[in-house]
Amino acid sequence: MVNVPESVETKPLPGRFELAGFVMEMVDLDGEMTFDGPFMAVVLKGSITSPVTVARWESIRSGGTTIRGKARLFVAADSGEGEWRDSKGIPLEWKHISSLVAGESLEKEMWYSYPYYSFNIGGRRYRIRFWLVGPDVDCGIHDHAGDTPNFKELHLQLRGSGYMEVFENNEKIIEVPMVPGRIHCPFYVVKDGKAAYPPHQYRSGSKGSLFMVFEELCK
Ligand SMILES: [Fe+2]
Repeated sequence: MVNVPESVETKPLPGRFELAGFVMEMVDLDGEMTFDGPFMAVVLKGSITSPVTVARWESIRSGGTTIRGKARLFVAADSGEGEWRDSKGIPLEWKHISSLVAGESLEKEMWYSYPYYSFNIGGRRYRIRFWLVGPDVDCGIHDHAGDTPNFKELHLQLRGSGYMEVFENNEKIIEVPMVPGRIHCPFYVVKDGKAAYPPHQYRSGSKGSLFMVFEELCK
């Protein structure tokens, strides 16, 4: 979520992998599919007709749910809370925020996954990474101005909890509680093909947080 120019290593996202007790994969839904246990599904392309509440950039989370539609989904099936740092099938290194943002305290409990993983859908290019945050951490107010490449970001809460906060004139004007399965509404507006953001930050809850960032790269 905080991005400064860096030599960014990016690898293709594996078709299926595991992290923190989730089995994560891209799924092509054409018809219907039933999930026995709790899961999150993000609609990346196409649409879901049932349940009707699920739109692009929204997720659902309950067991025994049948979804119908024609869509490319990112699915995270929850097999039970594992160690948040543990992954299988996707080589991840957890790097401290101080290696990304100059001047950050070494004491700050905030790590990002490395490298980036990317995928393409319908001509759109995405990068993802994961953030692991200790309890009650202000992750840092930023607006992505000058980030290269420019991107549209959204965060999916996986474990723990937190808040997405938006600021205006140094005052918080929006606070979106983030609980597992939730994606916040976009904070960016697109001007001349580029995403522009108000100052915003992620703040973790009292038990810490693991969340995922989808970045859709702007052309
Ligand atoms: Fe951000």
